[in-house]
Amino acid sequence: MEFHFTDPATDFSDGVRVIQVYHEDLLTRGQALLTLVDTLRQEGMSESRANQCIDAHCYYTHASSLHHQDEEKGLFPLVVDQSPLIDGMLERLTLDHEEIEEAWETLASWLSNPEQINDFPRMQTLAREFEKVLREHLIRENEDFLPPVEKLLGAKQRLEAGGIMRQLRVKS
Ligand SMILES: [Fe+2]
Ligand SMILES: [Fe+2]
Repeated sequence: MEFHFTDPATDFSDGVRVIQVYHEDLLTRGQALLTLVDTLRQEGMSESRANQCIDAHCYYTHASSLHHQDEEKGLFPLVVDQSPLIDGMLERLTLDHEEIEEAWETLASWLSNPEQINDFPRMQTLAREFEKVLREHLIRENEDFLPPVEKLLGAKQRLEAGGIMRQLRVKS
């Protein structure tokens, strides 16, 4: 079985929309991850669940790093130094990205080697911690950060942000 990442974003004419599409996708995938670890804990490993582990590893490895780069290289530079409130948020959100990546590390090594998982309760705990830190961050961005950003950026800047994001995919 082959695993490949399908980019949830297909239209890069609006960088803010790219971010929103990723948030929706990451929230949905987070729920699927929780369902998977619950089933593993209750019923143990199977070939299909092992494939779901590897698929989740493939998804998050690509989606998290691309999404953080989209924000840190494509969006944040366009809104920095415009208000102390937004600058404070940028600092906090960038630190969140590091925390999310740390929470992902141990879980990632397990998901990529499902045959070596020997502690399903521990895996469930790690997945719940990762999903929680990621979900809280996504909600903070949706509710507190994106609304003022949408007011600040016109169509031209949104197009510019989308162009940077498109370039990030050419390089990677
Ligand atoms: Fe973020
Ligand atoms: Fe985000």
